[in-house]
Parts: sequence; C-alpha cells; structure tokens
Amino acid sequence: MIVLGIESTAHTFGIGIIKDKQVLANVNDSYTTESGGMIPVQSAEHHVECCDRVLKTALEKANISLHEVDVIAYSRGPGMGHCLRIGATVARSLSILLKKPLVGVNHCVAHLEIGRLCGAKDPILLYASGANTQVIAYDGGKYRVFGETLDNGVGNFLDGFGRIIGLGFPAGPVIDKLAQKGKNYIKLPYSVKGMDVSFGGIQTFLKNKVVGKFPNEDICYSVQETVFAMLLEVSERAMAHCEKKELLLGGGVACNTRLKEMAKIMCEDRGAKVFIPENQFLVDNAAMIAWTGLLMYEAGVITSMKDSKIRPYERTDDINVVWR
Ligand code: FE2
Repeated sequence: MIVLGIESTAHTFGIGIIKDKQVLANVNDSYTTESGGMIPVQSAEHHVECCDRVLKTALEKANISLHEVDVIAYSRGPGMGHCLRIGATVARSLSILLKKPLVGVNHCVAHLEIGRLCGAKDPILLYASGANTQVIAYDGGKYRVFGETLDNGVGNFLDGFGRIIGLGFPAGPVIDKLAQKGKNYIKLPYSVKGMDVSFGGIQTFLKNKVVGKFPNEDICYSVQETVFAMLLEVSERAMAHCEKKELLLGGGVACNTRLKEMAKIMCEDRGAKVFIPENQFLVDNAAMIAWTGLLMYEAGVITSMKDSKIRPYERTDDINVVWR
C-alpha cells in the first residue's frame, strides 16, 4: 500500500510517500527569515507557493505516479489555521481527483509513531518543538500527556530569546553553535512546576537581567543547560512513573546536539534506551504523517470529506489510538 502524507502545521510544507514500512520520499520545504520571527500568513503563502513543486519532487524521488497512491493522509492539527488550511486543501483536492480515501492525522501523535518506525517500541516521547513541548506515553488506548509547557513551546522560547540577541528564524541552530563556545554558566530561573515546565519567566529574566551584560556564547550555553535539564527532569520522572525503559526524542529542538547528549547521559544513568531518529524525522516532516496515516487506515480509520475540517487545537490525548 502506498500512502501520500501532507504536512503543513507551521513553517514546513512537506509531502512524504510511504510504501509499507519503507519511506520512498520525504520532501519538506520550510519558511525561514533573516531577522524577526514567523508570521503565520507569510508561512501559509510560502506553502501555497511551494506545494506544486514539493509534490512533483516527492513523486520523482519515490519514482511513482500520482495514480499509484492508495491513501491521502494530512496533518489536520494542532497548528496554525492559516497553514493547516493549505495542507488540508491540497489533501482534499488530491482525494477528489484520485478518488482515494483521506485520513486526518494528529501531528503530535505522528512524531511518536515515526519514532516507533525508527525502532522504539513503547517509549516516553519528549516532543520538543517550536509550538509544542510535551512528554507523551501510551497508556490505556491513548497517548497521554504526562507533562507539558504552561506557556511557550521550548522552540518558540529559543526563537524569542534569539530575537532579543538579533537572530532570525529559526534561532535554535545558531544558539546551538554559540553555546558550544560558551564556558561560564550564568544562573537562570529553573522553572519546573510539578510535571510541567514554563519558559516565560526565564525569557523576561534574560531580557531584563542578562542580555548585554554577558557574552552571548555564555548566555546561549546557560540557556541550553537550564531548559534542557528541565525537559529531561520531567521526562525522567515520566519514565519512572510509567515504568518505561525507552526515551524517544521528537520535534525540531531535538536536533540540538546538547539536548541529544543530555538525553543519552540520563538514559545511560538509569539503564534505559534512547531513540533519536535522523534529523529529517525529528523536525516537522511529511513522512511521519504518511506513516501514521498508513497505520490508521489499516486499522479502519477513514476521514470523510464532511469531517475533514482542520483542528488547530486538537490535543494529543483527544485521539483514540485504535491501531495499537
Ligand atoms: Fe512538530
């Protein structure tokens, strides 16, 4: 069976093509800026501009024709309405044109499922991206959220901090590089509240008390050490509580070299396994949508045209995981 997946929740428009367990194509095009953050309308315009080209490239890479596709899967939430609408429109158009079924996929669940395709069996997922920061695990028919951010996603926090020191979008990769040159740890607020985390106070503290007073390299280093320790503390507690022996990383922030390193150290210490998919499957990507669409379709899930509206606020734990 061949499933074509479409991703468009935020900055990335992607087309992924999966045949059984094989990724035939994973073509993604992301909106970026030289300075300033992401503007949703501009990101949606980016998706409109690149969607034909991305589809054509993906079909060429997969070496198939559009008519060989059996199922159309698409990200229907959570995400930015402007952006989600472009992917859903492409999905509906292809479904009507090809007379093939549609499957609406939850983006956060797809980050976990692609990790299972990469070898994890029953992990705790630390999903660390721009808009989303959640610690997720399977329990009793659903993917449950054991901890999450109370305000920004960690990636949005890093981007916000990046704007304060003059970086463009996305700022995370530059912060990662600057942090590697940092030597001195600056004490920052450490904001874990129960199983949740919060970044707003740290950002205000950085803006008012830190930026301009210390070298940017030392600030980036201290920011990473602090917020990644927060994320891994919550992840480790979820692992202990659920008695799970695997940690899976997902989301664009998981491409960060120091977060990967700290996750490996934590898992080694507690005798657990860490799964870190290739960067192309960590960031927002359409292969994960195609793969989750395939799992859902094989379990009997089909999204009717009438029910195919986007769901910008859909929660991870809204989904009945009928395919497990
Ligand atoms: Fe994501």
